[in-house]
Amino acid sequence: MTTGSDTEPDRAPGPSPDPAPVPAPGTSGTVVEDTHDEVPGQATGQTPGQAGQTPGQAASRYDAEATLRLGGGTAAPRPEPGAAPVPGQGPDPGAGRAAAPEAALRFEGVHKRFPNGTTALADVHLSVAPGEFVAVVGPSGCGKSTLLRLASRLDTPTAGTVHVGGTSLGYVFQDPTLLPWRRVLANVELPAELTGVGRAERRARAREALRLVGLEGAERQLPRELSGGMRMRVSLARALMTRPDVFLFDEPFGALDEITRMRLQEELQRILSEQRFAGLFITHSVIEATFLASRVVVMTARPGRVVAAFDVPFPHPRPPELRYDPAFARIAGEVSAALRDGAGEPAVQGGSPQ
Ligand SMILES: Nc1ncnc2c1ncn2[C@@H]1O[C@H](COP(=O)(O)OP(=O)(O)OP(=O)(O)O)[C@@H](O)[C@H]1O
Ligand SMILES: [Mg+2]
Repeated sequence: MTTGSDTEPDRAPGPSPDPAPVPAPGTSGTVVEDTHDEVPGQATGQTPGQAGQTPGQAASRYDAEATLRLGGGTAAPRPEPGAAPVPGQGPDPGAGRAAAPEAALRFEGVHKRFPNGTTALADVHLSVAPGEFVAVVGPSGCGKSTLLRLASRLDTPTAGTVHVGGTSLGYVFQDPTLLPWRRVLANVELPAELTGVGRAERRARAREALRLVGLEGAERQLPRELSGGMRMRVSLARALMTRPDVFLFDEPFGALDEITRMRLQEELQRILSEQRFAGLFITHSVIEATFLASRVVVMTARPGRVVAAFDVPFPHPRPPELRYDPAFARIAGEVSAALRDGAGEPAVQGGSPQ
């Protein structure tokens, strides 16, 4: 739990008016049992990060991306118009560790070429064990977000396989994508609502998720009444509602100020030590990657591939002061050096990319 201006408010706003039931836009086919935490007439409102996005788009994006429930299994490549066959290149040099069959998430020889001819990923091998938290750093445009989209089945590889071992997947974006007309509690409840969980249970789960992210007391606030850090906490809480076996993070803290960002890193790893999900965390911050992850993977410039991996052996939860520890700084320095060399020839340093 943290304190400060971006955390729990002293009080929630007063009782909401008693709105007529308004189905959540973009949730057609879904029974919305309780709409008392939505604000009538605000369904066209936007949060600062949602300019140009209609509520329907926001809701359907959320529906598609943040409440993914997977059956487990392996995504097969889908032939794409104009996609040339990609020759097999074998695993990255030094990727010696055999892929564990029980991996929570595994990319094997994954290529991704878009119809416009852009090859985003080339022969990516990476696996994440159950309960393992892996961070990925790499130059802008090297295919990090593409990797997550493949893991979440929002897209398919051109070649290779993506295996997701768990049954439930959480996805957190840089933009919190909250529904602006719904109060905090109702935003967090949404995944359970969409999957038909009864009101009492989903409410209890949402309150527990809000407790985990340090937002007790903010249940009745609207997204626009929250700071950026609070909105990101709500987004985290909402993703926790799926009780994910695998958690994907796409630069979730990138837009936050340094202090808020460090607090959220500390809270995330506390949550991690309570929940034990497998995580794949994309970031541009080497310090953030090293602080959070048990392994940091480095990708090359596009087409992205894994060229180095570094084990980070400090136990979780990690104290904030660890960031100033010489042993921590040494690992972060090695990651930085590999990142700088990322445009050059693949070379494996430290642990195995897989
Ligand atoms: N739908 C698409 N069609 C064509 N090209 C795409 C598509 N999506 C992504 N790309 C391209 O694929 C490459 C990888 O994109 P991606 O978004 O995965 O990069 P990234 O590593 O996440 O970058 P950043 O760090 O800036 O977020 C980029 O060159 C991008 O322009
Ligand atoms: Mg990206």
